[in-house]
Amino acid sequence: MVVFKVSRKDTTPFDGQKPGTSGLRKKVKVFVQPNYLHNFVQSTFNALTSEKVKGATLVVSGDGRYFSKEAIQIITKMSAANGVRRVWVGQNGLLSTPAVSAVIRERVGVDGSRATGAFILTASHNPGGPQEDFGIKYNMENGGPAPEGITNKIYENTTTIKEYFIAEDLPDVDITTTGVTNFTGPEGPFDVEVFDSASDYVKLMKSIFDFESIRKLISSPKFSFCYDALHGVAGAYAKRIFVEELGAQESYLLNCTPKEDFGGGHPDPNLTYAKELVARMGLGKSEPQVEPPEFGAAADGDADRNMILGKRFFVTPSDSVAIIAANAVEAIPYFSAGLKGVARSMPTSAALDVVAKHLNLKFFEVPTGWKFFGNLMDAGVCSICGEESFGTGSDHIREKDGIWAVLAWLSILAYKNRDKLGGDKLVTVEDIVHQHWATYGRHYYTRYDYENVDAGAAKELMTHLVKLQSSLSEVNKIIKGVRSDVSNVVNADEFEYKDPVDGSISSHQGIRYLFEDGSRLVFRLSGTGSEGATIRLYIEQYEKDPSKTGRLSQDALAPLVEVALKLSKMEEFTGRSAPTVIT
Ligand code: G6P
Ligand code: ZN
Repeated sequence: MVVFKVSRKDTTPFDGQKPGTSGLRKKVKVFVQPNYLHNFVQSTFNALTSEKVKGATLVVSGDGRYFSKEAIQIITKMSAANGVRRVWVGQNGLLSTPAVSAVIRERVGVDGSRATGAFILTASHNPGGPQEDFGIKYNMENGGPAPEGITNKIYENTTTIKEYFIAEDLPDVDITTTGVTNFTGPEGPFDVEVFDSASDYVKLMKSIFDFESIRKLISSPKFSFCYDALHGVAGAYAKRIFVEELGAQESYLLNCTPKEDFGGGHPDPNLTYAKELVARMGLGKSEPQVEPPEFGAAADGDADRNMILGKRFFVTPSDSVAIIAANAVEAIPYFSAGLKGVARSMPTSAALDVVAKHLNLKFFEVPTGWKFFGNLMDAGVCSICGEESFGTGSDHIREKDGIWAVLAWLSILAYKNRDKLGGDKLVTVEDIVHQHWATYGRHYYTRYDYENVDAGAAKELMTHLVKLQSSLSEVNKIIKGVRSDVSNVVNADEFEYKDPVDGSISSHQGIRYLFEDGSRLVFRLSGTGSEGATIRLYIEQYEKDPSKTGRLSQDALAPLVEVALKLSKMEEFTGRSAPTVIT
């Protein structure tokens, strides 16, 4: 057995190692600087209580993006040197973010061990490759991202770090084959276990959904499907679940081979970046040559995000979570005893609120960031939650879950079609959404993103919007000057959240303008970009009248868009006459 020594290395702090909404994300060229990753990893170990490090079991894996392989070896050597007992690595270093959460919560090692934390190596939906982004975040023993208390401590540590520990002579571990490698260090044994990336996750999914009913739907000649992993880690799970378990044809899978650079694309499942899928589904500029499938879905790099499409039809993420919540009890066995509650992030449309009210469910509105749902789930008051940013999930884990969302939709489709598979027409995704609007009303919704804007200019725009809030009469005067058909703003504030579980307060979580007719404008700065600032503008309008729920979203929202651009002086501050992305 290999015996390793521990080396203590001198180091000095790097600026800007503050983890954002979901960990530390920087360009690869920043991460490859000597000691850069080391400093962050040591600062994380130093921020954890000793039993989470000494003798602990840690998961280290990610979406497989460029620099992951090197990072896994570095983190493994530093874990060994810091007294960690064993490191679990998904085969080829691949584990989706939801799978990591599932592994922490569910997996029992060969010797009965359980993990208490994970380093997830991903920059989520940001592009990968030598010129692009890398990222790292730490998840806790509940399977969710580290809370702010810990990430602040990590950051503080990065500003004063002087030394780190590493087992330099530990040989690189072969992460391409499953199995356990044993080592011995000054503090005793240290093991690395490489395991199958999908098995634990697949097992969990089978315990949640009725795979047999989905299998029946998929085998119907009237049903067809297209899943686009955008060359992210979801591909590894899509093959196992959709093809091997549920009998989908291999040809339903698009871009399902994980690649270090995501094939040069931007692995973000939205109408702009999931181009191939969008074209296949009949939502592109030109009509596809082949009849589009009935159902389409995509995932981001680390497979926690999802986009749901029907034939020539886009389901907004805000509608998606509302529709899943409305149908969960009937369609998904895991929820058959009822929902404990539902939650959405503040900028997400109020479609879920209406469902919660109808079904008399507990309801929570939290700031942007999945970690806010975790507390509610741990307290047992939230079963299903979602965000406008293409994140949907449930309390089965503590991350959003892209494949889960697809299985939820397949379950709803299977349920709605349970008596129809022999007939001549299936209930489609579009039918399900239209039925939902007829019952609950429709929240017209769009988001404008202004990416890579000068950070100073973005701040000024936000300050301007906050200042404006002190005089609603001034606001309404501006509005009437642009569009007389837009109702009055009756309330405007900066969103602040008091966590009902731990009492912690998060302020400055987005600027809101609330209109008399229930419409909303929300402005916030992205917490996940890696360069400059990204301004997000969220526009929403509620329509209860079933005869008016069928309009084109962009037509319905045009007046509000005009008002938003004028109120914020978007072009004046940013120099941009159009957003980078519209979702
Ligand atoms: C990540 C988080 C989400 C959050 C999203 C917002 O994906 O996991 O919970 O909604 O970032 O990103 P933004 O760029 O808008 O801050
Ligand atoms: Zn992601």
